[in-house]
Amino acid sequence: MSTREMILILDFGGQYNQLIARRIRENNVYCEVHNYNDNVFELIKNLSPRGIILTGGPQSVYDDESTKCDSKVFRLGIPVLGICYGAQAMTYALGGRVEMAQVSEYGKTDLKIVENSRLFVNVDKKSVVWMSHTDKITMSPHNFNVTACTKDCPIAALEDSNKNLYAVQFHPEVVHTVEGRKILSNFVDICKCSRDWRMDSFVDETINQLKSKIGDKKALCALSGGVDSSVAAVLMSKAIGKNLTCVFVDHGLLRKNEADEVENVFKNYDLNFIRVDAGERFLEKLQGITEPEQKRKIIGEEFIRVFEIEAKKIGTVDFLVQGTIYPDVIESGLGKSAVIKSHHNVGGLPEHVDFKEIVEPLRLLFKDEVREAGQQLGLPENLVNRQPFPGPGLGIRIIGEVTADKVKIVQDADYIYREEIAKADIKNLGQYFAALTNMRSVGVMGDGRTYDYAIALRAVMTSDFMTAEAANLSWEVLSKVANRIVNEVKGVNRVLYDCTTKPPATIEFE
Ligand code: XMP
Repeated sequence: MSTREMILILDFGGQYNQLIARRIRENNVYCEVHNYNDNVFELIKNLSPRGIILTGGPQSVYDDESTKCDSKVFRLGIPVLGICYGAQAMTYALGGRVEMAQVSEYGKTDLKIVENSRLFVNVDKKSVVWMSHTDKITMSPHNFNVTACTKDCPIAALEDSNKNLYAVQFHPEVVHTVEGRKILSNFVDICKCSRDWRMDSFVDETINQLKSKIGDKKALCALSGGVDSSVAAVLMSKAIGKNLTCVFVDHGLLRKNEADEVENVFKNYDLNFIRVDAGERFLEKLQGITEPEQKRKIIGEEFIRVFEIEAKKIGTVDFLVQGTIYPDVIESGLGKSAVIKSHHNVGGLPEHVDFKEIVEPLRLLFKDEVREAGQQLGLPENLVNRQPFPGPGLGIRIIGEVTADKVKIVQDADYIYREEIAKADIKNLGQYFAALTNMRSVGVMGDGRTYDYAIALRAVMTSDFMTAEAANLSWEVLSKVANRIVNEVKGVNRVLYDCTTKPPATIEFE
């Protein structure tokens, strides 16, 4: 049985389930998302949550195939909040009625609170909420009061406050629900959580757990220099010291100075650090290759081969450390991740490395929590707040064949771009980088003709990296960057700015 104070989020397949977890963690309360299934009572027994949240989902309670919530969940004496489908599942399980609505409600809707509720303490009586449903609750279960309504949904919130059962048809977790954060915070109060989940306690707890799990056995970590694998490595090193070996494969396609920066950080830790400079090997394999997917595959495959060679030198290791984080875990749980992950990781796991178990010390953290943990562990600011960088690196930021000259051009241009963005103190960018187009064109420099490459600058604003807006960078910054690049980077005579959104473009320029 768990001793940690937590809220359990039971997932019915809703698209906002990660957000619910995020919002609960913002209240300094630990939570976990688990699929709702037949093992639910064992799960509850093991985790002994202070509260349970039932998420939304695409199903209909009247569909034979849909996942129903067992009514016993509501008799455990644990506060429950049902959201959207979760509200309908609760209503259905407890004898209320759910029907297909005449009008689906989708988007922002005015909510009116009609009864006092502990869920709505300090919440405006009228506010905007986010709705996304077709079925609706048409009759409350016995002993439930209706506490809020909208124009098309007379039962938008209901509760049996004596049993601490609450249900809302709208989505409190999305930002469009103006009072959503307060509502979830009120639920946290209803669950009597003491709000003491802190990153320092996570770090200490995790180090202790790793110590007892791994004991004096050996572990191996593939370090990319990105935030996740770096934080995972440092946590492990604090737990097992010299029994950890980190293998950092520099494929020669990193940003300027990045490999040295990573090495400098890890030199300060009590672990075995192996840096493999494999740039030439990668370039050789990439010779003549222009198709982006093929480049990705070659880089991924090669990465594993190099890693394998190093791992074999070390011999049998018991544990392989991975920097998997919570969104990866949730995505895997929903069964939609295979393609996304192979695309977004360097190349998956080596098949022939001799290890017995995988350790994922960050599997319960969100990205910003990983960054916070990195800070707690004393990792330098520039590493902790590093923007996302694709596993195949500059290999996919160079259109056409990848050559040593082109890598140098894009590294230098990107360095200048990053320097100027930092100087201008622009903070709200999701990602920004320079890419080398394969276009050469005529220019004039001094009195001579040039026939050189064009660099493309990309800067996007995004919260989820699935969609993105091109950033509205000031002309002052752009022209300064362009000027410096054409003057300082040999082989470039033109700089372009990519103003396309994603979709239809992607963030990377490959
Ligand atoms: P796209 O280009 O698909 O990129 O819009 C979305 C986000 O994913 C990153 N990205 C990768 N990250 N390995 C990674 O770890 C990869 O192979 C990879 N490809 C794209 C990209 O930088 C952006 O943040």
